[in-house]
Amino acid sequence: MTRSERKRDHIQYALSTGMPSWNSLDDIRFVHNSLPETSVSEIDVSVINGGLALSSPFIINAMTGGGGTETEHINRSLARAAAETGAAMAVGSQMGAVKDEREWYTFETVRANHPNGRVFANLGSELTPDQAVKAVEMLKADALQIHLNVIQELVMPEGDRDFRGAIDRIKKTVQAVDVPVIVKETGFGMSAENVKALERIGVSVVDIGGHGGTNFSRIENQRRERHLSFFDEWGIPTAASIAEAASLKSTLSLTASGGIRNGVEAAKAIALGADAAALAGSVLAALKNGGREEAASFLHQCMDELKMVMTASGASTISELKTVPVVIEGKTKEWLNERGID
Ligand code: FNR
Repeated sequence: MTRSERKRDHIQYALSTGMPSWNSLDDIRFVHNSLPETSVSEIDVSVINGGLALSSPFIINAMTGGGGTETEHINRSLARAAAETGAAMAVGSQMGAVKDEREWYTFETVRANHPNGRVFANLGSELTPDQAVKAVEMLKADALQIHLNVIQELVMPEGDRDFRGAIDRIKKTVQAVDVPVIVKETGFGMSAENVKALERIGVSVVDIGGHGGTNFSRIENQRRERHLSFFDEWGIPTAASIAEAASLKSTLSLTASGGIRNGVEAAKAIALGADAAALAGSVLAALKNGGREEAASFLHQCMDELKMVMTASGASTISELKTVPVVIEGKTKEWLNERGID
C-alpha cells in the first residue's frame, strides 16, 4: 500500500469512525456571571501562541499528507477556509514531499491560498534537522509542528516499533529551524511530565492532542485483521490533559485539541489554560459535507460561539478567558484528583 493510499484510508475511516458523542470537555462548566460588564462588539480574540501573534485562536489542525491531487485539493480548500476565517492552518505530514520534490505542489498551494495567514509545517518525530528546514521552506511556514503518534504506529501493522531518540531529535530540530516548534499529540493526550520534558529542550508550544476525538487506534484497527482494541480507550482525555499541562504554569504556550466540536468547547479548553484550539475531524466532516464553504461557515460559527461565551463570562480577551472560574466534574475531576492536580 502506498503512502497516499494509506492517507486516503485515514480520511475515510476518520469520517466513518467519527467523533464520540461524549467528550471530557462535557465535564467542564462555566460559573455563570450575571454582571459580566462586556460587549460582544468589544471582544478581542487575538492571542500570542508560541511567540506568534494569531488573529484568531482557531487552528485547522494537520490532516493531509500523502501527496497527489486529492491532497492538493483538500489543502487548497482548507487554506481558503482558513484565509476566509482568519484561522491558522497546519498541513499534514510533509515527509513524502521532503523526500520527493515532485510532491511540493500539494503543500505550496497552502501558502498560495493563505498568503497572509499563519501556516504550520508538519513532520513526525523521526525527522532530521535538515528535513525540518526543508519542510518549513516548502510552506514558508510560521512554525513547525512535530507530531507524536506512538499508538498509531503500534496499531499499524507496518508501523514503527522503535521510539528511541525522539527527544534528542526534537532538541536538535529546535536548534536548527528559525521558527517556533510545536510538539503535538495526535489523539492520546500529553501528560504534565511529557510537557515538562519538552519545555526543557526549548519547544515553544505543546498541542496536547487529547483523547476524545479522532481516534487513530480505531482508524488503524479497521485496517487490521486482529484488532488491538485495548488501545481504542487508551490515552489522556482532552480536558484532563490541558489541566495537567496548565498545572505546570510553564512559559510554553498550550494548544488544546482532541475532539473539539464547537466554539463552546474551544472556550472551555481556553478557560482550562490553553491559548488556542485546534480542530481536525470536525473541520474535515464539514469539508466533506459541503466543501470549502461549509468548512468556512463551521469555523465562523465556532468564532461566534466563542465570542458569545466570552461575553457571558465577562472575558473581553483570551487572557481574561484563561482566568474565568470553571467547575470540573465527573471523570475529569477524578483524573485530576488521582494525579494530585488542583
Ligand atoms: C490527522 N492528524 C494528523 N496529525 C499530524 O500531525 N500529521 C498528520 O499527517 C495527520 N494526519 C491526519 C489525517 C486525518 C484524516 C485526520 C482526521 C487527522 C491528527 C490531527 O491533526 C489531530 O491531532 C487529531 O485528529 C485529533 O484532533 P480531532 O480530529 O479530534 O480534532
